[in-house]
Amino acid sequence: MSWSAGANGTIHETTDDGSTAAVKVCTYDQGTLDGSLAHILAEGIGLSVTVVEARQGGHPLVVQATADPHRVHTEITTGSSTVRQALALPAGGVAVWSAPTDQADRIGRHATTLLELEIARNESKQLLAEVDSLTNQVMQDFEELSLIRALASSLELPQTEEDTDEFVLASLMPLVSGVGAVSIAAILVDDSGTQKRSPLWTGSGLIPDPSIFELIDTHREELRLQPVVRNRNVGDGHCGVAGLDEYIVVECSSEGRLHGWVMACNRVKDDIDDVPWAQLGFTTVQASLMETATNQLAAQLNNIRLLRQKEELFTDVIRALVNAVEARDPYTCGHSERVASFARYLASKIGFTTAECERIYLTGLLHDVGKIAIPDGVLQKPNRLNDEERAIIETHTDSGWRILQELEALQDILPGVLYHHEHWNGEGYPDQLAGENIPIDGRILAVCDAFDAMTSDRPYRKGMSIDRATGILNEGAGTFWDPNLIQVFRRHIEEIDEIRINHQPRQPASRPAPVDGRPIIGQPGFVVPAETPQASPLAE
Ligand SMILES: [Fe+2]
Repeated sequence: MSWSAGANGTIHETTDDGSTAAVKVCTYDQGTLDGSLAHILAEGIGLSVTVVEARQGGHPLVVQATADPHRVHTEITTGSSTVRQALALPAGGVAVWSAPTDQADRIGRHATTLLELEIARNESKQLLAEVDSLTNQVMQDFEELSLIRALASSLELPQTEEDTDEFVLASLMPLVSGVGAVSIAAILVDDSGTQKRSPLWTGSGLIPDPSIFELIDTHREELRLQPVVRNRNVGDGHCGVAGLDEYIVVECSSEGRLHGWVMACNRVKDDIDDVPWAQLGFTTVQASLMETATNQLAAQLNNIRLLRQKEELFTDVIRALVNAVEARDPYTCGHSERVASFARYLASKIGFTTAECERIYLTGLLHDVGKIAIPDGVLQKPNRLNDEERAIIETHTDSGWRILQELEALQDILPGVLYHHEHWNGEGYPDQLAGENIPIDGRILAVCDAFDAMTSDRPYRKGMSIDRATGILNEGAGTFWDPNLIQVFRRHIEEIDEIRINHQPRQPASRPAPVDGRPIIGQPGFVVPAETPQASPLAE
């Protein structure tokens, strides 16, 4: 079997039986790895290089190079001044070239070094590309997360009235430049939907409250249908209010509920602003923008109201549960609510967020809910409890946990309920946790619970004075209670006592009696037909 170069860089193999076949050649195809390496080799050694396909049973030099890569193999042809050399390439091809016999060694070494260098460069390029791709992926993930986070935070609805006011102003801010107003006012109505609240201004308040209220009343009917635009210098428009040159008012209502009105006051007059219509004041373009933004705001305000209603209902249900517990032990009437109020206040003083303070309040309301499982004889015993009775009372933290852990929405109040009787020195119950291992909600409630127990009246004793109670708390700091928490408690004792004094226990409502034989609650007068219609399949 012999091997010879054909025309146009092709290689021919002549097998032992004399037949000749062309070997697949991929000369300098730089689109492939082997092709581009062959190109670099050719330039480096200054000779024509061909890439041939490595295959079994092929030319011995090619087979040799494939079997033993990383070095140049040389085939000497007797009587020729050149030798043929071959070097395996990384993607499976073999580079072959003819070199002058006297330079074959040097060219061979040069070719090997060139190839190794180029392979190393390629690998490093590939690694860099992978790093780039990973970086891009991470950046993309980060951007997506940031966007989702931004969307989530804009979906977070404000809880308090102050938060809502801030939310309204933040929503209106982009409109100020959008419509080119000097200032925008939001005139919201109270929960009953009748009383106007003092306007919230995005910038300076341009006109007094009574003038703005009067102006809204003047346009009230028209506003139900469309935005009102008035410009001093256009048509018969005159604003009639000092300091007001032009305005747009839009009603802010959603699903039939009025939230208030939004009013853009005075168009910004800018020397650079030479657009003719801009000098005329507000137009329907700005009115329509105001309407769109106000509709969005109204929808959000509706969501806020619904959310607040839902939360009020939730707290009311909790309160009803607490009343059921306290009804069994009339002497502790109002205890849970007072503890909840102290705890919320104390939490706010150690830097808890509004949401965390509300969690503590709820925990305070429910901290003794487990007492529902304690027998009356033990719960209502006015005298000192014996060891057995004390052990029964001490199960109320576990019972509380057991009752509440079923409720998904109350998972975050479980630590306070379970651990409000742990002591700082580790001698409390139920788990003898110590120091900062006691969840903070439990530590806060322990202080507030003790303070209320000491300062409230019982049938067999009068409540302690504030001084005496704080003295006891101080003595127990570091033993029973978190010493830092006691410090904060004492620092704010006046405000806490104010909460205690102002606390009004809820009076049980008296049931409304029927008037003239008709109930006040429920709809009287439903008549069941004598002949019952065919029962629905659901009733079967
Ligand atoms: Fe308790």
